[in-house]
Amino acid sequence: MKKLSIYVHIPFCLSKCTYCNFISFCNKSDKMDAYVQAVCNEIKLRGKEHGKFFDVTSVYIGGGSPSVLKEGQIAKIMTEIKNNFRVLQNCEITIECNPGSVTEKKLLEYKLVGANRISIGGQTLNNDILRILGRGHTADDTKEAIKLAQKVGFENINVDMILALPHQKMSDIKKMAKFLIKKKIQHISAYSLILEPTTPLFRQVKNKQITLPTEDESVEMYNYVFDFLKKKGYNRYEVSNFSLPDYESKHNLNYWQMGEYLAFGLAGHSFLNNTRFANTEKLEEYIDSIEQGKLPIVSKEKINANQRKDETIMLALRTSEGLNLKEFDNAFHCNLLTDKKKEIEFLTNHNFISVKRGYLRVNDNAFYVLNSIIAKLV
Ligand SMILES: C[S@@+](CC[C@H](N)C(=O)[O-])C[C@H]1O[C@@H](n2cnc3c(N)ncnc32)[C@H](O)[C@@H]1O
Ligand code: SF4
Repeated sequence: MKKLSIYVHIPFCLSKCTYCNFISFCNKSDKMDAYVQAVCNEIKLRGKEHGKFFDVTSVYIGGGSPSVLKEGQIAKIMTEIKNNFRVLQNCEITIECNPGSVTEKKLLEYKLVGANRISIGGQTLNNDILRILGRGHTADDTKEAIKLAQKVGFENINVDMILALPHQKMSDIKKMAKFLIKKKIQHISAYSLILEPTTPLFRQVKNKQITLPTEDESVEMYNYVFDFLKKKGYNRYEVSNFSLPDYESKHNLNYWQMGEYLAFGLAGHSFLNNTRFANTEKLEEYIDSIEQGKLPIVSKEKINANQRKDETIMLALRTSEGLNLKEFDNAFHCNLLTDKKKEIEFLTNHNFISVKRGYLRVNDNAFYVLNSIIAKLV
């Protein structure tokens, strides 16, 4: 049986953070009921087509902020998935929670419906920065969300951090990293801020109302997180993702290993049978289309072998495991060590990559030039 990951997008938030360009709205809560119903109907439609052919190994309900949904709505979506797909007993089921909207009752609901992983968008524990970003919650809310998730019995918790935020100091990063270790958080995602051109933060930086840490400071923060977490037993299994042994996210790993996935909901992007397809980004269009029994797909692209080959290299090199050369050869009839002999020699001689035990991987000290390394190999 083929394996499948399922993603469900919940495009609602309590407030819109100034740096965020994800598809999410803070003024459309009147559409929540219709949206949840549409997602359930999309799951049914897709289930008829694909349900029998796959074993589901991970489900990720993300956003946006799934925790802003009303009580019972996540359970409704999860039940629909279980009724229409073969969800494996040991399936990893993650619910993304925003500290401003998660409650003990909602966490219990997630647990009862089979969720076994919670991802909390903490970002920073500095209240001044949280305010500047328009996050709509405080550091205490994040601490409370962690406490409640642990109380309810979640033993696999991720907390997101963002590095190089406005006014962020190294001391903020150290404080947060130490706090997460003290709380025995199993998984930490530490993203460096991406200044997205369509966001209010971009304009504030451009108008010099806000200054960001320098590139050097940003690298220093990332290196600190890497060194500190490594000392505490966390493995950086992907550029921005750190976990204790055996707590790597199956869902994330499936993306980086070019596994197949179906995404339900607004702007969902799927990859199935070597084809990528995307749902509409317009909320009303999404709901209307499903109400008429039509899938809301707006783009479809068949991925040819060359594209798959390049993407396999690109994604695998983001991971600490690296690229399995034998599997790559079997899949694409391409021996990378001979095809890219000159480039691989150059990168190895400069200590950027290593080839060991059948894997080609980027060295720990070279992740900051990952894109240039990939450019040489694809
Ligand atoms: C899609 S968001 C959903 C999480 C949840 N809505 C929240 O923010 O509490 C997933 C994560 O992406 C990260 N993220 C979002 N925008 C980012 C940006 N512009 N730069 C870096 N990381 C970002 C944040 O760490 C966030 O928690
Ligand atoms: S809560 Fe998360 S998804 Fe929502 S606006 Fe903020 S960063 Fe974006």
